[in-house]
Amino acid sequence: MKMIVAIIRPERLQSVKAALTEAGISGMTIVPVRGRGSQAGIRFTTRVGSFCVDEIEKTMLEIVVEDDRKQDAIDAVRRSAATGSIGDGRIFVIPVEESLKVGGE
Ligand SMILES: Nc1ncnc2c1ncn2[C@@H]1O[C@H](COP(=O)(O)OP(=O)(O)OP(=O)(O)O)[C@@H](O)[C@H]1O
Ligand SMILES: [Mg+2]
Repeated sequence: MKMIVAIIRPERLQSVKAALTEAGISGMTIVPVRGRGSQAGIRFTTRVGSFCVDEIEKTMLEIVVEDDRKQDAIDAVRRSAATGSIGDGRIFVIPVEESLKVGGE
């Protein structure tokens, strides 16, 4: 199994969930996060000076799938989360050893 950790724009969440559902992937954990990428934040210049916002609100999805669904999950996220502008997010793929239900036998 693999965990797809996708850090996306919060406003793309509904679209990403729909794309994953369409790909037959339903389980996920959704976490509000703050982060920075290779631009290390955004600098704003105003009349009275400039300031940098270096922690940008993002949404993190953790999606655990069988190995043979990994590429489908990645494709669905990329297709539905991308706007083409910088700051679209990142995807990390992490090996997962086991997945167990808490309840039941
Ligand atoms: N090296 C990293 N380690 C952990 N998290 C990261 C790393 N790089 C980016 N992130 C996370 O991904 C989020 C999205 O980053 P972002 O989309 O700006 O990536 P980028 O690599 O700078 O690409 P782009 O050029 O499109 O901006 C960040 O807010 C942060 O949460
Ligand atoms: Mg960036």
